[in-house]
Amino acid sequence: MKKKSIKIAMVGLGTVGSGVWKILSQQRQLLEQRIGAPIEIKWVAVRSLRKKRNFALPKSCLITQTDLIFNDPEVQIVAELMGGVSEAKKIVLKALKKGKHVVTANKALIAECGSELFHAARQAKRDLCFEASVGGGIPVLRALREGLAGNHLHSIYGIINGTCNFILTEMLHKQMDFHQALKKAQELGFAEADPSFDIQGVDAAQKLAILIAMAYGVEIPANKIHTEGIEPISLLDMQNAQRFGYQIKLLAIAKSVRGQVQARVQPTMIAQDSMLAAVQGENNAVLFDGDFVGQTLLYGKGAGSEPTASAVVGDIVEIARNIQVGVSEAVAPLGVSVESLKAAKIQPIDLLKSEYYLRFQVIDRPGVLAKITQILSQYKISISSVYQHGHQSGEEVSVVVLTHEVLEKNLQQAINKINRLSFVRAATTIIRVEA
Ligand SMILES: NC(=O)c1ccc[n+]([C@@H]2O[C@H](COP(=O)([O-])OP(=O)(O)OC[C@H]3O[C@@H](n4cnc5c(N)ncnc54)[C@H](OP(=O)(O)O)[C@@H]3O)[C@@H](O)[C@H]2O)c1
Repeated sequence: MKKKSIKIAMVGLGTVGSGVWKILSQQRQLLEQRIGAPIEIKWVAVRSLRKKRNFALPKSCLITQTDLIFNDPEVQIVAELMGGVSEAKKIVLKALKKGKHVVTANKALIAECGSELFHAARQAKRDLCFEASVGGGIPVLRALREGLAGNHLHSIYGIINGTCNFILTEMLHKQMDFHQALKKAQELGFAEADPSFDIQGVDAAQKLAILIAMAYGVEIPANKIHTEGIEPISLLDMQNAQRFGYQIKLLAIAKSVRGQVQARVQPTMIAQDSMLAAVQGENNAVLFDGDFVGQTLLYGKGAGSEPTASAVVGDIVEIARNIQVGVSEAVAPLGVSVESLKAAKIQPIDLLKSEYYLRFQVIDRPGVLAKITQILSQYKISISSVYQHGHQSGEEVSVVVLTHEVLEKNLQQAINKINRLSFVRAATTIIRVEA
């Protein structure tokens, strides 16, 4: 007897949507075997019916009216793959209200409106899955929510923006400056025409907010995460990092510190021989440190049509399996009940203790280094290494200082004072070092 198919509708057929279409079409048999029933795409909503698609799909399923989806009792799963926040939110809420399970790849939506959507899913007794929202094709969230459920997490370190990692890798290996590397990323399709969200760290902060919510059962608005982008990083900083045995990566960092959450997205110096330093190009990786499991690294493609679609299809399979056995909400979206979510207590950045790389742009003349070190010591900042690029009396030179562990507040006060000195030619570059 032919098994009844599970019908899904997609909203969006762009980069991710077309990958989902491809997997669901090409892996029909495999998925049927794994789910116990075939998956059938009944509707695909798009913005424009006239747009040329570079693969064949039946005209009858292509629509622009999402109401057709909501009002179709046969549709059990809706995949929101259109992006943006306000329209996408309406679609997800309406789908849940109409009794559909929802899959989304939309990190901005989950980071900004997650709590409201999780409540709506709970009320509707429907599943809401969002694996593709963090780490693209890498099953980071499922690993965190299920595989690591028996651990308190000391820390999470993520390279979760492929655009930034590609740019930093190119700068290092091809000796390019930031703007040359960004241009190359755009030419190769690893950066958007407007790359602001990526290079300013906003995209990584949204993903970190989702990881923190799941890891620590707390809500944290992405805009409350201390966020620094990679634009101020120069080729000289990359070379200096190498000289001291480090590499610079844009890291999303979360730590549990005495009841508070430390959360930051920042260019960071990490040891050249560390696992995360080996993550090159557009790849992503997340390193979890759990109290029982120890360090666990997940690595792979963090974006792109097929890897991201792989994560979306993983979610579709999970929901379809639940439908097959007649359960929903087998696992809460964040792994903890939405009612138990509390606002995160965020550790103020001033209280961070870290080692630092400092690059001073100064006029080379006697007494300059002595003045800088005097101010640093006034703020209890002790130095582990000093390096000066060239000696050209009266010319601008770079003086690089590595510090021992110091309090962020002290460091910022010292740097403010140093930046006002007459021989300082540009704002001092500050990069935290994660030992
Ligand atoms: N691209 C990635 O590598 C990646 C990775 C992880 C997560 N994501 C997330 O996945 C989501 C989709 O990204 P994408 O790169 O696939 O976007 P995209 O290529 O821009 O595609 C968006 C799709 O949504 C459709 N659409 C837009 N507004 C619509 C509306 N009001 N009603 C119906 N359809 C509408 C568009 O229709 P037309 O085709 O007619 O224009 C298009 O097919 C985003 O949330 C993104 O953050 C993307």
